[in-house]
Amino acid sequence: MKTRSITLCVNGRDYTFEVPHNRTLLQALRDDLKLTDTKYGCGSGECGGCTVLINGKDNINSCLTLAAEMEGKHITTVGGLTKNGQLHPIQQAFVELGAIQCGFCTPGMVMKTASLLAHNPNPSEDDIRRGLEGNICRCTGYENIIRAVQKASQMINASATQCAGGACS
Ligand code: FES
Ligand code: FES
Repeated sequence: MKTRSITLCVNGRDYTFEVPHNRTLLQALRDDLKLTDTKYGCGSGECGGCTVLINGKDNINSCLTLAAEMEGKHITTVGGLTKNGQLHPIQQAFVELGAIQCGFCTPGMVMKTASLLAHNPNPSEDDIRRGLEGNICRCTGYENIIRAVQKASQMINASATQCAGGACS
């Protein structure tokens, strides 16, 4: 099969590699770059396990996206949210609220939450339920996940308020 060279920016790092034209972003992340934090669930856009963030704001199902189409965009996976060993507030909230059971859906849930909060920093419970539609938790831990998203929203907003008040250097 014909291949082409592409460069993807993932979690702030550029990777250049050869892919067949039909390589999905999910295959590229997991199989070519060995970044297995993004999960392969259904492979057909039904479960949300493969959700990643594009340009810090929008979410996509990486199983339905061609890798070559993502050149020039900034891709963030759940591992990319952690900075200097510190969990991102969304990750912290999921841990604190017990929103993780087997954990298989968690990377997708966290990335969908990151997108939701980037677009809507103060989501209502309905907003959260609608925002997480398309992400399936087979352990059915939805109530704790919703509480975790609410907590993450509070944590992020509190930190933004502190910075605005000059508490950050
Ligand atoms: S693996 Fe992509 S939506 Fe299920
Ligand atoms: S925690 Fe197991 S699938 Fe969601």
